[in-house]
Amino acid sequence: MQDGSGRIVVQNLTKNFGAVAAVQNLSFQVEPGSVTGFLGPNGAGKTTTLRMLLGLVRPTAGFATINGQPFSGLGNPGRVVGAVLEAQGFHPKRSAINHLRVYCSAMGIQDRRAEEVLGLVGLAATATRDVGGFSLGMKQRLALATALLGDPQVLVLDEPANGLDPEGIAWLRQFLRSFAASGRTVLISSHLLAEVEQTIDQVVIISRGQTMYYGMLDDLRRSQQSRVIVQPADVNALVTALQEGGISGIQPTGDGKVAVTGATVQQVGDVAAKAGVALYGVQEEKADLEQLFFRLTSGQYAAPGIVHYGAPPPQGFGPPPGYQQSGYHQQPNYNQPSGYHQPVQGYQQPPGYQQPPSGYQPGYDPSPYQAPQAPEPTKEQGGNS
Ligand SMILES: Nc1ncnc2c1ncn2[C@@H]1O[C@H](COP(=O)(O)OP(=O)(O)O)[C@@H](O)[C@H]1O
Ligand SMILES: [Mg+2]
Repeated sequence: MQDGSGRIVVQNLTKNFGAVAAVQNLSFQVEPGSVTGFLGPNGAGKTTTLRMLLGLVRPTAGFATINGQPFSGLGNPGRVVGAVLEAQGFHPKRSAINHLRVYCSAMGIQDRRAEEVLGLVGLAATATRDVGGFSLGMKQRLALATALLGDPQVLVLDEPANGLDPEGIAWLRQFLRSFAASGRTVLISSHLLAEVEQTIDQVVIISRGQTMYYGMLDDLRRSQQSRVIVQPADVNALVTALQEGGISGIQPTGDGKVAVTGATVQQVGDVAAKAGVALYGVQEEKADLEQLFFRLTSGQYAAPGIVHYGAPPPQGFGPPPGYQQSGYHQQPNYNQPSGYHQPVQGYQQPPGYQQPPSGYQPGYDPSPYQAPQAPEPTKEQGGNS
């Protein structure tokens, strides 16, 4: 029996396609009431993981459950999990509403729900238009509408922001926050941290099928510090002077430079001047989440303005514990069609939705996760439907 918790558990999940280790020993948990971002560059293993979660690919090892059950044990899965995977096939000559009605009939749901979900995703005005003429973003919305038909407790979305314009991304953020705030579970993948950064509470970052970070996004943010990179005439003399000046977090980079955390450019310059050490260059390197994401997922990636140094990063800078260097490199683009109708604000559940039982404790380790506060209502969308 499924436990009704709305919890997703991925445990030591592994998938090999021949010699390709697509997913390696992946473990994480997604709690109801929260949004988890599943992040990694293209080819990292996100879709394969989600396909295993949805019973579409058989794991080489490990398991994934929803409500304590593998997908195949969910009875009426469409009412438990709404899922959107990549490359949705829509019949181009079918209207959006008819597409949804086909699914209503297959799932034993009243046709009325098709109109409801179109309204929820902002496609009510295009209900009778053929899907063949839809932009990528509109198809994303229609796929989401399809996933919502069964009023599921859990949403699993693969790259849902792909093809959405900035307004669409803002709408999706609010929609998912509101969906999670109603006590439901959201797992979304993305190859771009910036796309989902404001949407997610928890983050699982993978690269080449391996976990690079798993934890709260806020903790990841807090782990970041900027550093000063300085090129002195004499590395040893500068290191000694900095130490004597009470500055810790000094890390020679092995290429004649020194990385200093916890000090400003001016402080480093003053110490060098006092010690009589000439400086050939001083540069502040600001660490932001996006940089960290690239560092975590692609050791060889170098964006303009990001300097890579030979030595491992000092404490407090760069990836948090558990970081594994990867040689993977990808920086894809996506296009942004525009022109949507304003959708309904937030998720509105149909009558009769039952909150999952509270206080449920599963048989595995309780997670330190704390449910986020209900979101502030935002005004950025204008608010009409
Ligand atoms: N059916 C398959 N057969 C062989 N290799 C696959 C298959 N599906 C995915 N892969 C490989 O597994 C790796 C992970 O792919 P995928 O899960 O699609 O990554 P992501 O969704 O993060 O872009 C890639 O190297 C991909 O080529
Ligand atoms: Mg994918």
